[in-house]
Amino acid sequence: MKQLSIIYHSKSGNTRKMAHAVLAGAQLEKEVESHLITAFDANLATLANSDAVIFGTPENFGYMSGALKDFFDRTYDDALSKQIRPAYALFVSAGNDGTNAIRETRRILAGYNMQELAEPIISRKRVTEADEQACKVLGQTIAAGLALGIF
Ligand SMILES: Cc1cc2nc3c(=O)[nH]c(=O)nc-3n(C[C@H](O)[C@H](O)[C@H](O)COP(=O)(O)O)c2cc1C
Repeated sequence: MKQLSIIYHSKSGNTRKMAHAVLAGAQLEKEVESHLITAFDANLATLANSDAVIFGTPENFGYMSGALKDFFDRTYDDALSKQIRPAYALFVSAGNDGTNAIRETRRILAGYNMQELAEPIISRKRVTEADEQACKVLGQTIAAGLALGIF
């Protein structure tokens, strides 16, 4: 079975809400196993065992959260040398922007040679029903692509 991991960090719950919506969408595809894991709990094995990863982070100080950056710091060298590079997508919760978190996370993932599969989702201020729906569609889209062998 293809494996999809949703690796996220959330301090006050907004990104977590988005992550659960992404998972709900992904789980609509029964031929793919989807997992939710926090950035602090994720490690190189999480990447190695994933056919695709959907990363979620708040925008903090115009950057990804420290927790997601810590995940990248811990996995980058080994992922590169072992050529572990699952394809990915992103979602971001932000107070009012989110674009810098997207740009900087993309820069890091380009260093991993990971391919981006879909446009990122940005939720601003509170997570609306429309945001949750967009996250659900993102999860289902990536899972369906894996199930069909497109990704
Ligand atoms: C330390 C800190 C820094 C933040 N920096 C930004 C920022 O640079 N741009 C922005 O749009 N929002 C910023 N925010 C707002 C958060 O991105 C927003 O509250 C987000 O929904 C938090 O996600 P969470 O509930 O998953 O922790 C910041 C919040 C905190 C606590």
